Amino acid sequence: MATSINVDYSTTIPNNIGLSEDRRVLKALERWHPGYLNWWNDMGPDGFQEKLVYLRTAVSVDLDGWAKFGYVRMPEYRWGILLAPQEEGRTIPCGEQAGQPVWQEVPGEHRAILRRLIVIQGDTEPASVEQQRHLGKTAPSLYDMRNLFQVNVEEGRHLWAMVYLLQKYFGRDGREEAEELLRRQSGHEDHPRMLGAFNEATPDWLSFFMFTTFTDRDGKMQLESLAQSGFDPLSRTCRFMLTEDAHHMFVGATGVQRVIKRTCAAMKDAGIEDPYDIDGIRKLGVIDLPTIQKKCNLHFSLSLDLFGSELSTNAANAFNAGIKGRYKEDRIEDDHQLVDDTYKVMRLIDSEIKLVDEPALSALNARLRDDYVKDCDKGITLWNNTIRKEGVDFQITLPHVGFHRQIGEFVGANITPCGKVLSSDEWDGVKDDFLPTKADGDFVASLMKPCWEPGKYANWISPPKVGIDSKPGEFEYVKIEG
Ligand SMILES: [Fe+2]
Ligand SMILES: [Fe+2]
Repeated sequence: MATSINVDYSTTIPNNIGLSEDRRVLKALERWHPGYLNWWNDMGPDGFQEKLVYLRTAVSVDLDGWAKFGYVRMPEYRWGILLAPQEEGRTIPCGEQAGQPVWQEVPGEHRAILRRLIVIQGDTEPASVEQQRHLGKTAPSLYDMRNLFQVNVEEGRHLWAMVYLLQKYFGRDGREEAEELLRRQSGHEDHPRMLGAFNEATPDWLSFFMFTTFTDRDGKMQLESLAQSGFDPLSRTCRFMLTEDAHHMFVGATGVQRVIKRTCAAMKDAGIEDPYDIDGIRKLGVIDLPTIQKKCNLHFSLSLDLFGSELSTNAANAFNAGIKGRYKEDRIEDDHQLVDDTYKVMRLIDSEIKLVDEPALSALNARLRDDYVKDCDKGITLWNNTIRKEGVDFQITLPHVGFHRQIGEFVGANITPCGKVLSSDEWDGVKDDFLPTKADGDFVASLMKPCWEPGKYANWISPPKVGIDSKPGEFEYVKIEG
């Protein structure tokens, strides 16, 4: 299979993998394409399918200058199949066969587990598009609207990426799984998406920014561990997806930062020093910092659930088989087999939170989650720097990993964001301080009014520091008229 740096746009499906010479897969993808377009039209951004949007499209997988920008109608976006170039002499990075050449075909004994991993990853991609489909209508600026649509079309491309792997390497079951990916729907009663966080609503723009900060970052960690796969086509697919996801997290982290900045500035103008003067601050038409903290608590905890149980035989099996590595496996210096190693896992024992030595192989989910938490700190630091610069006495913090969990070690426990274990009664008395209430949601919803004049921003959010593709402030990122 010839991979090139540049993308071939001569086929209906742009690609850098010589698809025009692979008739079987090209045909299978062409058959899947109309169903995808139907899905995009039905479940993609509501009300903007005919508008011209200033989007980036990948034209190369070379990390310098891989994208070009231009106006596109979203249904005409060139969703393509792009794999990072093959690395000469790459070896299986972990597990029982560590050090042997990577597989270019699916090894029979790992077929089921690989298919499952690809389907789960694939299922998250269209889910977020579905969750965010109503947000265009309340976009706080054309800049933000464009960023939303950019994230959406790229999640659509990520679906293509997983469907390519299914169609190319998994024959008939791959085709069936590809169809199912279009059939499940976020939040649907009978056929929901596979993972909890992808069935939650994204009701407002603050939720969108939190989702792209925390849930896209979970996506990054999952892709990082699949990028370490001994199944080389999966590794190369995920490596390129990571380039795109970096922008999604940028949209999230800077989005929240701009909300914070505007709140602090409005407080200063009104002479409000107390960040807990919720009524006073809300009267200014901006989102108070305690509500931002609650949204952060919610989205962080939902995203932690995506890592699965702390201790997991599935994770151990995938690692042993060499099909899923640790975060930056190829840069870790150990034997990459972990047979006798241990890892400290936070556990709840007799209502006390303790760090316990567990077999490192069983604790791989816990380890990936710990790496994720460290990575999340970057976003938090950015936000707190802004608050400090604006001179407000408040700090956003990540809640304890045991807070508000639906999966794993802490299910059913009442743990505060500070890590204190409470009784149910105590919890009921304080939970509204930690998680957004209906009233908080209603208030945020009340601010969600469209602001679509070029260069203008809704009152509750600051303009960005720089435009997309270095465009000036007045740039019309989405052509709303005509
Ligand atoms: Fe994605
Ligand atoms: Fe993403």
